[in-house]
Amino acid sequence: MEKQFSGQNQKKLGLSQFVQAIEASRTLAITTKVTELRRQGKTIIDLGAGEPDFPTPAPVCDAGIQAIRNGKTKYTHNAGILELREKIAAFVNKYGGQYQPEQILVSAGAKQSIFNALLAVCDPDDEVLVISPYWTSYPQQVKMARATPVFLQASERDHYKVTAEQLSKAITPKTKLLMFNSPSNPTGATYTKDELAAIADVVAQHDIYLLSDEIYMQLVYDGLEPVSMAMFPQIRSQLILVNGLSKSHAMTGWRVGYLAAELPIVKAAAKVQSHSTSNITSISQYAAVAAFELAETELQKMRTTFAERRDFVTQRLRSMPGVSLSLPQGAFYVYPNFSQYFGKKYQQKTLNAALDIADFLIDAAGVAVVPGEAFGSNENIRISYANSMENLAIAMDQIEVALKKLQ
Ligand SMILES: Cc1ncc(COP(=O)(O)O)c(C=O)c1O
Repeated sequence: MEKQFSGQNQKKLGLSQFVQAIEASRTLAITTKVTELRRQGKTIIDLGAGEPDFPTPAPVCDAGIQAIRNGKTKYTHNAGILELREKIAAFVNKYGGQYQPEQILVSAGAKQSIFNALLAVCDPDDEVLVISPYWTSYPQQVKMARATPVFLQASERDHYKVTAEQLSKAITPKTKLLMFNSPSNPTGATYTKDELAAIADVVAQHDIYLLSDEIYMQLVYDGLEPVSMAMFPQIRSQLILVNGLSKSHAMTGWRVGYLAAELPIVKAAAKVQSHSTSNITSISQYAAVAAFELAETELQKMRTTFAERRDFVTQRLRSMPGVSLSLPQGAFYVYPNFSQYFGKKYQQKTLNAALDIADFLIDAAGVAVVPGEAFGSNENIRISYANSMENLAIAMDQIEVALKKLQ
Protein backbone atom coordinates (compact mmCIF):
# COMPACT_ATOMS: atom_id res chain seq x y z
CA MET A 1 0.00 0.00 0.00
CA GLU A 2 1.25 3.49 -0.82
CA LYS A 3 2.37 5.43 2.22
CA GLN A 4 0.40 8.58 2.97
CA PHE A 5 2.04 11.85 3.78
CA SER A 6 0.26 13.65 6.54
CA GLY A 7 1.54 16.93 7.87
CA GLN A 8 0.98 17.49 11.54
CA ASN A 9 1.87 15.36 14.54
CA GLN A 10 2.98 12.39 12.51
CA LYS A 11 6.21 10.88 13.72
CA LYS A 12 7.73 9.44 10.57
CA LEU A 13 6.37 11.00 7.42
CA GLY A 14 5.33 14.30 8.97
CA LEU A 15 7.09 17.65 9.05
CA SER A 16 9.59 18.52 11.74
CA GLN A 17 8.33 20.18 14.93
CA PHE A 18 10.94 22.77 14.17
CA VAL A 19 9.58 23.84 10.81
CA GLN A 20 6.00 23.76 12.07
CA ALA A 21 6.93 26.41 14.62
CA ILE A 22 8.10 28.76 11.86
CA GLU A 23 5.55 31.13 10.32
CA ALA A 24 5.45 31.52 6.55
CA SER A 25 6.48 34.96 5.29
CA ARG A 26 3.37 37.16 5.36
CA THR A 27 4.83 39.67 2.96
CA LEU A 28 5.30 36.96 0.35
CA ALA A 29 1.69 35.86 1.06
CA ILE A 30 0.44 39.27 -0.10
CA THR A 31 2.37 38.93 -3.35
CA THR A 32 0.69 35.55 -3.91
CA LYS A 33 -2.75 37.08 -3.26
CA VAL A 34 -2.10 39.95 -5.69
CA THR A 35 -1.00 37.49 -8.38
CA GLU A 36 -4.16 35.44 -7.88
CA LEU A 37 -6.52 38.45 -8.03
CA ARG A 38 -4.80 39.75 -11.14
CA ARG A 39 -5.14 36.32 -12.74
CA GLN A 40 -8.87 36.64 -12.11
CA GLY A 41 -8.78 39.90 -14.12
CA LYS A 42 -8.92 42.37 -11.18
CA THR A 43 -6.88 45.56 -11.28
CA ILE A 44 -4.80 45.76 -8.13
CA ILE A 45 -2.25 48.41 -7.23
CA ASP A 46 0.43 46.61 -5.27
CA LEU A 47 1.80 48.74 -2.46
CA GLY A 48 2.83 45.61 -0.60
CA ALA A 49 6.09 44.80 -2.28
CA GLY A 50 9.32 45.75 -0.55
CA GLU A 51 11.40 46.50 -3.60
CA PRO A 52 12.30 49.54 -5.67
CA ASP A 53 10.25 49.86 -8.85
CA PHE A 54 13.26 51.25 -10.75
CA PRO A 55 15.16 49.01 -13.14
CA THR A 56 18.66 47.93 -12.13
CA PRO A 57 21.04 50.61 -13.50
CA ALA A 58 22.26 49.74 -17.01
CA PRO A 59 26.02 49.59 -16.22
CA VAL A 60 25.27 46.97 -13.57
CA CYS A 61 23.26 44.85 -16.00
CA ASP A 62 26.00 45.23 -18.62
CA ALA A 63 28.61 44.00 -16.16
CA GLY A 64 26.48 40.92 -15.46
CA ILE A 65 26.13 40.21 -19.19
CA GLN A 66 29.88 40.70 -19.71
CA ALA A 67 30.60 38.27 -16.88
CA ILE A 68 28.60 35.60 -18.70
CA ARG A 69 30.30 36.35 -22.01
CA ASN A 70 33.72 36.25 -20.35
CA GLY A 71 33.03 32.85 -18.87
CA LYS A 72 32.86 34.06 -15.27
CA THR A 73 30.34 31.34 -14.62
CA LYS A 74 32.13 29.01 -12.24
CA TYR A 75 32.33 28.61 -8.47
CA THR A 76 34.04 31.50 -6.75
CA HIS A 77 35.56 31.88 -3.30
CA ASN A 78 32.86 30.97 -0.76
CA ALA A 79 32.97 34.50 0.70
CA GLY A 80 32.85 36.23 -2.69
CA ILE A 81 35.44 37.35 -5.24
CA LEU A 82 38.22 39.44 -3.72
CA GLU A 83 37.48 42.38 -6.02
CA LEU A 84 33.96 42.62 -4.63
CA ARG A 85 35.02 42.21 -1.01
CA GLU A 86 37.55 44.99 -1.53
CA LYS A 87 34.80 47.28 -2.84
CA ILE A 88 32.54 46.39 0.08
CA ALA A 89 35.29 46.98 2.65
CA ALA A 90 36.04 50.37 1.06
CA PHE A 91 32.34 51.29 1.22
CA VAL A 92 31.88 50.23 4.84
CA ASN A 93 35.12 51.97 5.81
CA LYS A 94 33.88 55.19 4.19
CA TYR A 95 31.24 55.19 6.92
CA GLY A 96 33.60 54.64 9.81
CA GLY A 97 34.48 50.94 9.57
CA GLN A 98 37.97 49.48 9.68
CA TYR A 99 37.47 46.24 7.83
CA GLN A 100 39.79 44.16 5.67
CA PRO A 101 38.36 42.19 2.71
CA GLU A 102 38.73 38.94 4.71
CA GLN A 103 36.26 40.39 7.23
CA ILE A 104 33.55 40.51 4.56
CA LEU A 105 31.21 37.63 3.71
CA VAL A 106 29.05 38.07 0.61
CA SER A 107 25.75 36.18 0.78
CA ALA A 108 22.54 35.72 -1.20
CA GLY A 109 20.96 38.94 0.03
CA ALA A 110 21.06 40.57 3.43
CA LYS A 111 18.50 37.95 4.41
CA GLN A 112 21.08 35.19 4.19
CA SER A 113 23.70 37.38 5.84
CA ILE A 114 21.45 37.78 8.89
CA PHE A 115 20.69 34.08 9.01
CA ASN A 116 24.37 33.13 8.74
CA ALA A 117 25.19 35.57 11.53
CA LEU A 118 22.48 34.21 13.84
CA LEU A 119 23.63 30.63 13.27
CA ALA A 120 27.20 31.70 13.88
CA VAL A 121 26.64 33.24 17.31
CA CYS A 122 23.38 31.94 18.87
CA ASP A 123 22.96 28.93 21.14
CA PRO A 124 19.59 27.38 22.06
CA ASP A 125 19.24 29.17 25.41
CA ASP A 126 20.05 32.57 24.01
CA GLU A 127 17.61 35.42 23.69
CA VAL A 128 17.68 37.89 20.85
CA LEU A 129 16.20 41.34 21.45
CA VAL A 130 14.07 42.38 18.53
CA ILE A 131 12.77 45.94 18.38
CA SER A 132 9.11 45.91 17.43
CA PRO A 133 7.68 46.75 14.89
CA TYR A 134 10.29 44.56 13.21
CA TRP A 135 11.12 43.24 9.77
CA THR A 136 9.00 40.14 9.37
CA SER A 137 11.88 37.66 9.03
CA TYR A 138 13.77 38.58 12.22
CA PRO A 139 11.78 36.53 14.76
CA GLN A 140 11.45 33.57 12.41
CA GLN A 141 15.18 33.56 11.65
CA VAL A 142 15.94 33.76 15.37
CA LYS A 143 13.72 30.72 15.92
CA MET A 144 15.40 28.92 13.03
CA ALA A 145 18.71 29.55 14.79
CA ARG A 146 17.08 27.83 17.83
CA ALA A 147 17.24 30.98 19.92
CA THR A 148 14.30 32.93 21.36
CA PRO A 149 13.10 36.31 20.13
CA VAL A 150 12.24 38.80 22.89
CA PHE A 151 10.46 41.94 21.80
CA LEU A 152 11.18 45.49 22.79
CA GLN A 153 8.28 47.76 21.88
CA ALA A 154 8.89 51.09 20.18
CA SER A 155 5.86 53.37 20.12
CA GLU A 156 4.34 55.64 17.49
CA ARG A 157 4.66 58.51 19.99
CA ASP A 158 8.46 58.01 19.97
CA HIS A 159 8.48 57.73 16.17
CA TYR A 160 9.09 54.00 16.53
CA LYS A 161 12.57 54.47 17.97
CA VAL A 162 13.76 53.05 21.28
CA THR A 163 15.78 55.12 23.70
CA ALA A 164 19.04 54.12 25.34
CA GLU A 165 17.16 53.89 28.62
CA GLN A 166 14.53 51.51 27.22
CA LEU A 167 17.28 49.36 25.75
CA SER A 168 19.25 49.28 28.99
CA LYS A 169 16.23 48.00 30.86
CA ALA A 170 15.49 45.31 28.27
CA ILE A 171 18.93 43.68 28.28
CA THR A 172 19.20 40.64 30.59
CA PRO A 173 21.96 38.07 31.21
CA LYS A 174 20.25 35.87 28.61
CA THR A 175 20.45 38.51 25.86
CA LYS A 176 22.95 37.41 23.24
CA LEU A 177 22.26 39.87 20.48
CA LEU A 178 20.32 43.01 19.68
CA MET A 179 18.70 43.13 16.27
CA PHE A 180 18.83 46.71 15.09
CA ASN A 181 17.51 48.22 11.88
CA SER A 182 17.72 51.87 10.87
CA PRO A 183 16.11 53.07 8.64
CA SER A 184 13.46 50.58 9.61
CA ASN A 185 11.25 48.27 7.68
CA PRO A 186 8.28 48.66 8.28
CA THR A 187 8.17 52.07 10.01
CA GLY A 188 10.81 54.10 8.15
CA ALA A 189 12.08 55.21 11.58
CA THR A 190 15.58 56.58 11.13
CA TYR A 191 17.91 57.16 14.07
CA THR A 192 20.11 60.26 14.02
CA LYS A 193 23.84 59.95 14.57
CA ASP A 194 23.41 61.00 18.21
CA GLU A 195 20.64 58.48 18.77
CA LEU A 196 22.82 55.75 17.26
CA ALA A 197 25.69 56.79 19.52
CA ALA A 198 23.44 56.45 22.57
CA ILE A 199 22.41 52.93 21.50
CA ALA A 200 26.05 52.02 20.82
CA ASP A 201 27.03 53.21 24.30
CA VAL A 202 24.47 50.91 25.91
CA VAL A 203 25.64 47.97 23.78
CA ALA A 204 29.26 48.70 24.77
CA GLN A 205 28.33 48.34 28.44
CA HIS A 206 27.05 44.79 27.95
CA ASP A 207 28.37 41.47 26.71
CA ILE A 208 26.08 41.30 23.70
CA TYR A 209 26.33 41.42 19.95
CA LEU A 210 24.75 44.16 17.91
CA LEU A 211 23.48 43.06 14.52
CA SER A 212 22.96 46.29 12.63
CA ASP A 213 20.89 45.73 9.50
CA GLU A 214 21.72 48.78 7.38
CA ILE A 215 20.05 47.69 4.16
CA TYR A 216 18.18 51.04 3.87
CA MET A 217 21.12 53.15 5.04
CA GLN A 218 21.44 55.09 1.80
CA LEU A 219 17.72 55.80 1.52
CA VAL A 220 17.33 58.72 3.94
CA TYR A 221 15.49 62.00 3.46
CA ASP A 222 15.01 65.48 4.96
CA GLY A 223 18.69 66.28 4.52
CA LEU A 224 19.80 63.36 6.72
CA GLU A 225 23.15 61.79 5.87
CA PRO A 226 23.64 58.01 5.74
CA VAL A 227 25.14 56.86 9.05
CA SER A 228 26.43 53.48 10.12
CA MET A 229 27.02 51.76 13.45
CA ALA A 230 30.54 51.12 12.07
CA MET A 231 31.49 54.62 13.18
CA PHE A 232 31.54 53.73 16.89
CA PRO A 233 34.87 52.17 17.96
CA GLN A 234 33.50 51.23 21.40
CA ILE A 235 31.39 48.45 19.84
CA ARG A 236 33.80 47.22 17.19
CA SER A 237 34.22 43.74 18.69
CA GLN A 238 30.45 43.35 19.18
CA LEU A 239 29.23 44.64 15.84
CA ILE A 240 27.89 42.48 13.03
CA LEU A 241 27.17 44.83 10.18
CA VAL A 242 24.75 43.75 7.46
CA ASN A 243 24.01 45.56 4.23
CA GLY A 244 23.38 44.81 0.57
CA LEU A 245 22.55 46.19 -2.82
CA SER A 246 18.89 45.16 -3.11
CA LYS A 247 17.30 48.40 -2.00
CA SER A 248 19.89 51.11 -2.70
CA HIS A 249 20.72 49.86 -6.20
CA ALA A 250 17.38 48.34 -7.26
CA MET A 251 19.03 44.91 -7.36
CA THR A 252 16.59 42.72 -5.39
CA GLY A 253 16.75 39.86 -7.87
CA TRP A 254 20.55 39.71 -8.03
CA ARG A 255 20.76 38.58 -4.39
CA VAL A 256 23.79 40.45 -3.14
CA GLY A 257 24.09 41.06 0.58
CA TYR A 258 27.04 41.09 2.92
CA LEU A 259 28.21 40.96 6.48
CA ALA A 260 31.21 42.65 8.06
CA ALA A 261 32.48 41.74 11.51
CA GLU A 262 35.45 40.58 13.56
CA LEU A 263 37.29 37.73 11.87
CA PRO A 264 36.12 34.81 14.11
CA ILE A 265 32.47 35.75 13.48
CA VAL A 266 33.02 36.06 9.73
CA LYS A 267 34.79 32.69 9.65
CA ALA A 268 31.95 31.05 11.59
CA ALA A 269 29.32 32.58 9.30
CA ALA A 270 31.36 31.55 6.25
CA LYS A 271 31.45 27.98 7.56
CA VAL A 272 27.65 27.96 7.73
CA GLN A 273 27.44 29.31 4.20
CA SER A 274 30.05 26.90 2.85
CA HIS A 275 27.84 23.95 3.84
CA SER A 276 24.55 25.44 2.71
CA THR A 277 24.81 27.57 -0.44
CA SER A 278 28.51 28.33 -0.99
CA ASN A 279 29.25 31.45 -3.02
CA ILE A 280 26.45 33.58 -4.43
CA THR A 281 25.99 33.56 -8.20
CA SER A 282 29.26 34.53 -9.87
CA ILE A 283 27.43 36.77 -12.36
CA SER A 284 25.82 38.82 -9.59
CA GLN A 285 29.19 39.35 -8.00
CA TYR A 286 30.60 40.98 -11.13
CA ALA A 287 27.47 43.09 -11.47
CA ALA A 288 27.87 44.11 -7.82
CA VAL A 289 31.43 45.31 -8.47
CA ALA A 290 29.98 47.62 -11.15
CA ALA A 291 27.27 48.76 -8.73
CA PHE A 292 29.93 50.04 -6.33
CA GLU A 293 31.43 52.01 -9.22
CA LEU A 294 28.18 53.79 -10.09
CA ALA A 295 28.18 57.55 -9.88
CA GLU A 296 26.56 58.86 -6.70
CA THR A 297 24.19 60.89 -8.91
CA GLU A 298 22.54 57.63 -10.09
CA LEU A 299 21.58 56.78 -6.51
CA GLN A 300 20.67 60.38 -5.75
CA LYS A 301 18.07 60.32 -8.54
CA MET A 302 16.30 57.37 -6.93
CA ARG A 303 16.51 58.99 -3.50
CA THR A 304 14.95 62.22 -4.74
CA THR A 305 12.10 60.34 -6.38
CA PHE A 306 11.46 58.34 -3.21
CA ALA A 307 11.44 61.54 -1.14
CA GLU A 308 8.81 63.14 -3.42
CA ARG A 309 6.62 60.08 -3.21
CA ARG A 310 6.98 59.89 0.56
CA ASP A 311 5.84 63.52 0.86
CA PHE A 312 2.86 62.88 -1.39
CA VAL A 313 1.70 59.67 0.31
CA THR A 314 2.12 60.97 3.86
CA GLN A 315 0.23 64.18 3.04
CA ARG A 316 -2.64 62.25 1.47
CA LEU A 317 -2.87 59.78 4.35
CA ARG A 318 -2.74 62.52 6.95
CA SER A 319 -5.66 64.26 5.25
CA MET A 320 -7.83 61.14 5.69
CA PRO A 321 -9.92 61.25 8.88
CA GLY A 322 -8.95 58.67 11.49
CA VAL A 323 -5.53 57.85 10.01
CA SER A 324 -2.45 58.76 12.07
CA LEU A 325 1.19 58.31 11.17
CA SER A 326 4.72 59.08 12.19
CA LEU A 327 6.73 60.69 9.38
CA PRO A 328 9.19 58.10 8.04
CA GLN A 329 12.63 59.56 7.31
CA GLY A 330 14.13 56.59 5.52
CA ALA A 331 13.47 53.38 3.54
CA PHE A 332 10.35 53.46 1.32
CA TYR A 333 7.51 52.60 3.67
CA VAL A 334 4.82 54.45 5.59
CA TYR A 335 3.25 52.74 8.58
CA PRO A 336 -0.09 54.44 9.25
CA ASN A 337 -2.31 53.51 12.18
CA PHE A 338 -5.88 52.62 11.16
CA SER A 339 -7.19 51.55 14.58
CA GLN A 340 -9.76 54.36 14.56
CA TYR A 341 -11.60 52.30 11.98
CA PHE A 342 -11.85 49.27 14.24
CA GLY A 343 -15.47 48.42 14.94
CA LYS A 344 -16.65 49.77 11.57
CA LYS A 345 -18.29 47.46 9.07
CA TYR A 346 -17.73 46.63 5.42
CA GLN A 347 -20.26 44.28 3.81
CA GLN A 348 -21.36 42.89 7.18
CA LYS A 349 -17.80 42.24 8.28
CA THR A 350 -16.52 44.16 11.28
CA LEU A 351 -12.94 45.41 11.04
CA ASN A 352 -11.04 44.45 14.18
CA ALA A 353 -7.39 44.24 13.22
CA ALA A 354 -4.86 45.33 10.63
CA LEU A 355 -5.43 42.03 8.80
CA ASP A 356 -9.08 43.11 8.32
CA ILE A 357 -8.03 46.58 7.16
CA ALA A 358 -5.67 45.05 4.59
CA ASP A 359 -8.38 42.68 3.34
CA PHE A 360 -10.83 45.56 3.14
CA LEU A 361 -8.38 47.74 1.18
CA ILE A 362 -7.65 45.02 -1.34
CA ASP A 363 -11.38 44.26 -1.82
CA ALA A 364 -12.87 47.78 -1.63
CA ALA A 365 -10.00 49.92 -2.94
CA GLY A 366 -8.06 47.47 -5.12
CA VAL A 367 -4.90 48.35 -3.18
CA ALA A 368 -2.61 45.71 -1.68
CA VAL A 369 -0.77 46.59 1.53
CA VAL A 370 0.84 44.46 4.23
CA PRO A 371 -1.04 44.15 7.55
CA GLY A 372 0.93 45.14 10.66
CA GLU A 373 0.59 41.64 12.12
CA ALA A 374 3.50 40.72 9.84
CA PHE A 375 5.65 43.18 11.78
CA GLY A 376 4.36 42.74 15.31
CA SER A 377 1.54 45.29 15.53
CA ASN A 378 -2.12 44.90 14.70
CA GLU A 379 -3.15 48.54 14.33
CA ASN A 380 -1.01 49.56 11.38
CA ILE A 381 -0.58 48.69 7.76
CA ARG A 382 2.61 48.99 5.75
CA ILE A 383 2.34 50.96 2.56
CA SER A 384 5.31 50.81 0.21
CA TYR A 385 5.77 53.93 -1.92
CA ALA A 386 8.17 52.17 -4.24
CA ASN A 387 5.65 52.65 -7.02
CA SER A 388 4.96 55.27 -9.69
CA MET A 389 3.46 58.61 -8.67
CA GLU A 390 0.57 57.88 -10.98
CA ASN A 391 -0.23 54.59 -9.21
CA LEU A 392 0.25 56.16 -5.79
CA ALA A 393 -2.24 58.92 -6.68
CA ILE A 394 -4.85 56.41 -7.86
CA ALA A 395 -4.26 54.25 -4.80
CA MET A 396 -4.68 57.17 -2.39
CA ASP A 397 -7.89 58.27 -4.18
CA GLN A 398 -9.27 54.75 -4.00
CA ILE A 399 -8.38 54.30 -0.33
CA GLU A 400 -10.04 57.63 0.51
CA VAL A 401 -13.23 56.66 -1.32
CA ALA A 402 -13.27 53.17 0.24
CA LEU A 403 -12.88 54.48 3.80
CA LYS A 404 -16.02 56.60 3.31
CA LYS A 405 -17.97 53.42 2.60
CA LEU A 406 -17.33 52.10 6.10
CA GLN A 407 -20.25 52.24 8.50
C1 LIG B 1 15.03 45.25 6.96
C2 LIG B 1 15.41 44.31 5.88
N1 LIG B 1 16.51 43.56 6.03
C3 LIG B 1 16.89 42.70 5.09
C4 LIG B 1 16.17 42.53 3.93
C5 LIG B 1 16.66 41.52 2.94
O1 LIG B 1 17.09 42.08 1.76
P1 LIG B 1 17.85 41.21 0.67
O2 LIG B 1 17.89 39.81 1.13
O3 LIG B 1 17.08 41.40 -0.60
O4 LIG B 1 19.22 41.81 0.58
C6 LIG B 1 15.01 43.26 3.73
C7 LIG B 1 14.18 43.06 2.53
O5 LIG B 1 13.02 43.31 2.49
C8 LIG B 1 14.62 44.20 4.72
O6 LIG B 1 13.54 44.94 4.58
